Amino acid sequence: MPDTAISPTVTMQLIEAIRAVVGERGLLTDPSDTAAASEDWRRLYKGRTSAVVRPANTEEVAAVVRLCAAAGVPIVTQGGNTSMVGGAVPAEDGSELVLSTARLNRVRDLDPVDMTMTIEAGVTLKAAQLAAAEHGCLLPLSISSEGTAQIGGVLAVNAGGNNTVRYGNARDLVLGLEAVLPDGTIWHGLRRLRKDNTGYCLRQLFVGSEGTLGIITAAVLKLVPQPKEVAVAFCAVETAAAALDLFARFQAHDVASISAFELMSGLGTSFVLQHIPNATLPLDRPAPFYVLVELATPRPNAGLRGSLEEVLEGALAAGVVIDAAVAESDAQRAAIWRLREEHSEAQKREGASVKNDVSVPVSKVPAFIEEATAACAALMPGIRAVPFGHMGDGNIHFNLEQPLDADPVWFLAQDHAIVEKVNEVVRKYDGSFSAEHGIGKLKPYMMPDWRGGAELALMRRIKDAIDPRGLMNPGKVLP
Ligand code: MLT
Ligand code: ZN
Repeated sequence: MPDTAISPTVTMQLIEAIRAVVGERGLLTDPSDTAAASEDWRRLYKGRTSAVVRPANTEEVAAVVRLCAAAGVPIVTQGGNTSMVGGAVPAEDGSELVLSTARLNRVRDLDPVDMTMTIEAGVTLKAAQLAAAEHGCLLPLSISSEGTAQIGGVLAVNAGGNNTVRYGNARDLVLGLEAVLPDGTIWHGLRRLRKDNTGYCLRQLFVGSEGTLGIITAAVLKLVPQPKEVAVAFCAVETAAAALDLFARFQAHDVASISAFELMSGLGTSFVLQHIPNATLPLDRPAPFYVLVELATPRPNAGLRGSLEEVLEGALAAGVVIDAAVAESDAQRAAIWRLREEHSEAQKREGASVKNDVSVPVSKVPAFIEEATAACAALMPGIRAVPFGHMGDGNIHFNLEQPLDADPVWFLAQDHAIVEKVNEVVRKYDGSFSAEHGIGKLKPYMMPDWRGGAELALMRRIKDAIDPRGLMNPGKVLP
């Protein structure tokens, strides 16, 4: 076979060598397959790649990485491709190969006594949750994209989600890791120990590195007991300050039972009701803000429902809550959760939107929302703020929908100015410009401002030490 160049770096010889490792099933070169893997779901970035490589096990991943390293070809690792920040799209010049983790899809081990699962990178988060549930356990991580997002990506971006208030982020669940390093070495770190105090914590270096240091191929995750009782309520409140008051009431009553405390704006919820089939408001009339509160306990007969009602009655009597609906069945619980989970999709259908995945101390959420809303309205009359998200951990998705009559392309071109307005308020409250979505391709330009000096310099030294040739997910995270 002649060694024709497909791109400046990818040659037919390399493609054939990879095919010899992964077989026909492991290599997609058809433009319809490579096109899907070259774009993010938000359609912010359109790259190009000549092949999507789908290794079936860790050894194949390592062999592919070695071949690419020898040829100097960069690799973009891709799981479910659900990144909010373009973290898994290849470059436009076609110089990078996409390595899909989809076929690394085995649950290797699940131990209900150790309360751990050893799981490969390509298992979807949903499938991992179901596997844990089969053994009476709960994998306590839940995000809107869990049906598609894969464990490798979830860990690579240190996903947060709905249960951080109780269980922390993805990084808090990782006991062990297996990863392929940029030179093709396999690091076998799949220990499932609760105590292992042996030098630098390497697994946490890979969690949150967004594929820039190596490829996560498997992990040991911590599980918790499956809840025996779950109670969910959907509450209407006048202001975000009232939502905070409600949160404090639940904390004071029984902080350990709170498994989610999510905020939604009236406007954002109206988009869900309008654009998502079969979505209905479980209350008589709309309100400026809503809260979804979920309590859960592994204790049987804990009277959680009574507990929930007791707090709500107090809050209703005090005028903190205007109205509330408590789910009576699994179906009602799912319907309430759907109102929250479909926020992103509904915003996409409503028009162009700019996302701000930010965090502030929980106590500052109401002030942040009020001030950021005013700042954006002053910047662009008619702009529609739709704050929502994980109020219980301080992570608000302060998304902004285009003014009704605006041109979407023009609106999206204003994104840096809009983001900066929001971030002025985030700074004031010592918050973060990226709470749970990561940096990807969207936010590296913000790193010098927010993490410059010693912090960014140290990150660069770590990157240079582990991936000196810059072959792992180039252009992501670091500016
Ligand atoms: C969510 O919590 O639903 C996503 O992280 C939100 C987003 O669209 O910004
Ligand atoms: Zn979120």
